[in-house]
Amino acid sequence: MKGLILSGGKGTRLYPITFNRAKQLVPVANKPVLFRVIEAIKDAGIDDIGIVIGDTGAEIRQAVGNGSRWDVKITYIEQDAPLGLAHAVKISHDFIGDERFVMFLGDNVIEGGISDLIRQFASSDWNSQIVLTEVDEPQHYGVAELDNDGKIVRLIEKPRTPPSNLALVGIYMFDKTIFDAVHAIEPSWRGELEITDAIQWLLENSRTVFPFVHRGWWIDTGKTVDMLDANNRVLAELEHRVDGYIDRDSKIDHLVTVARGAEVINSVIRGPAIIGEDCRIINSYIGPFTSIYDHTVVEDSEIEHSIILDNSRIVGIPNRIEDSIIGRDVEITYSPIKPKAYKMVLGDHSKVGLL
Ligand code: DAU
Repeated sequence: MKGLILSGGKGTRLYPITFNRAKQLVPVANKPVLFRVIEAIKDAGIDDIGIVIGDTGAEIRQAVGNGSRWDVKITYIEQDAPLGLAHAVKISHDFIGDERFVMFLGDNVIEGGISDLIRQFASSDWNSQIVLTEVDEPQHYGVAELDNDGKIVRLIEKPRTPPSNLALVGIYMFDKTIFDAVHAIEPSWRGELEITDAIQWLLENSRTVFPFVHRGWWIDTGKTVDMLDANNRVLAELEHRVDGYIDRDSKIDHLVTVARGAEVINSVIRGPAIIGEDCRIINSYIGPFTSIYDHTVVEDSEIEHSIILDNSRIVGIPNRIEDSIIGRDVEITYSPIKPKAYKMVLGDHSKVGLL
């Protein structure tokens, strides 16, 4: 089997974090979501992987390279515009050929990997296997209606009145019949070739589509709150280790990772939490569910339940920072200079909640 990862599109719902970068490269527990997807596919025994890229393609190529880091072969497939998931399949035909394949959305994180699913599909004669899971707000996803025997009756993309709470998880398995489907369907009301319509076409044309209901957690990291949720879940499952330096005045618990080159001085870190390479945490408190990416400095400050990206500086903040995502090269400092006022330089689409 081959793997196909969709990493084109625009991350508007994660603005401003993705204003100038690929949303698939935003790290969850200090590892880009896209890297987690590659690892899940590789763990399932697939080492020939295509990645569909769009506007942010150069950054993705630079981060992923030829795949040798994971011992996989990566082929890049350029999509001129984000014309839909089924469009992405269409333009990947040359890469896939006649093989069965798994398609994985590059911004999805799933508990437990996909090895069992792949094994099941590889040894079946189904034309497709889809993954469903119960969600609270199905109107934001592709939704499946099943009959009493658990067979799929209908699939609809982001319905106003969802027929069930079973959403399509961004992991799909197909054989070559999907190429007939993506050529047969028309763009939806939002101008995209929808993968749900292509799978509906398979159903209506007597192909077998097997629905697997996933019971663990699954997160589409499209929105800020989902990103923090994914970070919580992955941090809680991580095997933690300390490679950096912790001084004698600091206290860290066993669910804390401190990467190579990082220093923790006179600080308290309560896990689960991860501190990236060459970070400096000084006279500070880092609370549970916090990821601090490489080369960041936190001094005389308190942070909890947050993601801080690389090369940032957070110094002397009198109130605890919580529930936040802070981008790269950001500086947040306390300024004693009069007049006593908030002094900000914020980029487009920034969001700040002040006391
Ligand atoms: O996350 C699960 C949902 O993903 C499913 O429930 C929906 O049925 C499915 O349509 C999809 O919905 P989204 O609105 O979340 O898809 P999004 O536009 O966020 O794109 C998902 C990924 O695919 C993302 O990594 C970008 C990439 N993509 C998207 C489009 C539209 C492409 O590579 N090319 C594209 O043309």
